Amino acid sequence: MGENETLISAARQARENAHAPYSNFRVGAALRATSGRIFGGCNVENATYGLTVCAERVAIFKAISEGERGFDAISVVTDTDTLTPPCGACRQLIWEFCGDVPVILANLKGKTEVIPMRDLFPKPFDSSNL
Ligand code: THU
Repeated sequence: MGENETLISAARQARENAHAPYSNFRVGAALRATSGRIFGGCNVENATYGLTVCAERVAIFKAISEGERGFDAISVVTDTDTLTPPCGACRQLIWEFCGDVPVILANLKGKTEVIPMRDLFPKPFDSSNL
């Protein structure tokens, strides 16, 4: 299995744990650290709706809280014909911690697309603006 396939597989596995009783939109993400470790995340919804956390941010916070810095790629998996790109809030966080990494989108049927973060998030606000 290639590196992208391994990451997609981890995101797919993380999606199995999605807590999405309100939207029924189950998302899995996986983040590869430069250390080689892979961190999975799923969306975690809440009855207040607004406290919901996306799969991507769960994966990022898991990795950061385990001491990881520096990441090579992130994958997002949903069961949709149109692949699911990260939301705006997640793009801001991915940019902060991962920079211009490949974002590997996939669905359960094996459709994939790789988009560089610079294309998903042009003209970012980041530490260089402070
Ligand atoms: N969601 C994610 O987890 N990641 C995305 O990239 C898009 C949206 C979640 C949030 C919410 O639980 C559900 O999908 C519907 O928006």
